[in-house]
Amino acid sequence: MTAESQAPATQHGAAPLAADAVARGAAPGASITFDVQHLHVWFGAHQVLTDICLQIPPQAVTAIIGPSGCGKSTFLRTLNRMHDLAPGARVEGRVALFDQDLYSPQMVATLVRRRVGMVFQKSNPFPTMTVA
Ligand SMILES: Nc1ncnc2c1ncn2[C@@H]1O[C@H](COP(=O)(O)OP(=O)(O)OP(=O)(O)O)[C@@H](O)[C@H]1O
Ligand SMILES: [Mg+2]
Repeated sequence: MTAESQAPATQHGAAPLAADAVARGAAPGASITFDVQHLHVWFGAHQVLTDICLQIPPQAVTAIIGPSGCGKSTFLRTLNRMHDLAPGARVEGRVALFDQDLYSPQMVATLVRRRVGMVFQKSNPFPTMTVA
């Protein structure tokens, strides 16, 4: 899987099966929300995440703690494919939501982001626009 090599999928018509499963949510009784296996992330030649394996359960708060710059936000961004459009970003490994691989060619990135939200340290909804 290579984030930068995938064209952003923006079409909503005829959503593939995998994306439908993500949109529906967890199956009753599911014990894992996110399943992350052997995740690696680079920005150019700089490897920020190396072989991350992690399972995030439903109905619980999961905290990611570490020093500034260790890659916490980089990891969170992999959970909704925010790196797709980041110049030089490359993602390898498996990130599954409700057992659906978020980086498979069948997955629709916009549906992933509709399901997985992020609240940033600084708000940036329209970074190139001014408010009159
Ligand atoms: N878009 C990007 N392009 C290039 N390098 C990046 C990009 N985003 C993050 N990095 C680099 O990846 C590393 C991890 O950054 P990240 O923001 O994930 O750390 P963090 O743990 O969230 O830090 P903080 O606690 O300060 O928020 C840093 O060296 C940062 O400079
Ligand atoms: Mg951060």
